[in-house]
Amino acid sequence: MIGIIGGTGIYEIVEMGEEVETKAIETPYGKSPEINVFKLHDKDVVFMPRHAKGHANPPHMINYRANIYAMKEMGVERIIATNAVGSLELSIKPGDFMIPHDFLDFTKLRQSTFYDTKTVHIDITKPYCDNLRDILISSGESVDNGVYICTEGPRFETAAEIAMFKQLGGSVVGMTGIPEVILARELEICYASVCMVSNYAASISPTKLTIEEVFDVVNEQKDNLIKLISDSIAKLPEKRECPCKYALSGAEIDEV
Ligand code: HPA
Repeated sequence: MIGIIGGTGIYEIVEMGEEVETKAIETPYGKSPEINVFKLHDKDVVFMPRHAKGHANPPHMINYRANIYAMKEMGVERIIATNAVGSLELSIKPGDFMIPHDFLDFTKLRQSTFYDTKTVHIDITKPYCDNLRDILISSGESVDNGVYICTEGPRFETAAEIAMFKQLGGSVVGMTGIPEVILARELEICYASVCMVSNYAASISPTKLTIEEVFDVVNEQKDNLIKLISDSIAKLPEKRECPCKYALSGAEIDEV
């Protein structure tokens, strides 16, 4: 089973699928948004709208644990996520896709682990699955690496924050990639993201940032994003051959 967690702009991928079913999954963390299960290129795919129907949940209110747990319950082994981002570099332009290889976490209030009652320290040296990234990179035009900065939101950033993020090595900034990528690793699910650059970040952009600008670019690039993901799914090998599936081995403290 392959999972897609769609941010803004890719809900229509479901229309390419066959045998579409809709359901919501109960988890120990609450109910997931309504998901669609379907066949694409003869493969089983689950699509989850990250913000739920009608963009009901803003980034800081998303129940990330319920979302990822529901994916695991559905038998998902690989997740392709999409995230809208602002660019910190003039060379990474609105409309571009970027496949991040690492992140910096500036979130503040989110539940970022499944392991509250036992001690598990997951290795996240390379947070994004390289095999999945390679497939995304080879399936369309994208910037093939970069550092994703995640802020708590829902506000955009100050000029000083963007200057700091640049100094720290950030490439793009968004509000939804964390803790998804961490939670997926905790459940031994491969995870990679296609970041869609919707705008230059505050102060990089010469004009005031508006939500309209973000949605306009996302709408323009929607079809290309769907094609990139659909072509990647077509190429995914039957079995995964990467360390993600053994993430918990050596991560748990044995009971004493
Ligand atoms: N900052 C944070 N999140 C975003 C942005 C941004 O500029 N654009 C889209 N998501």
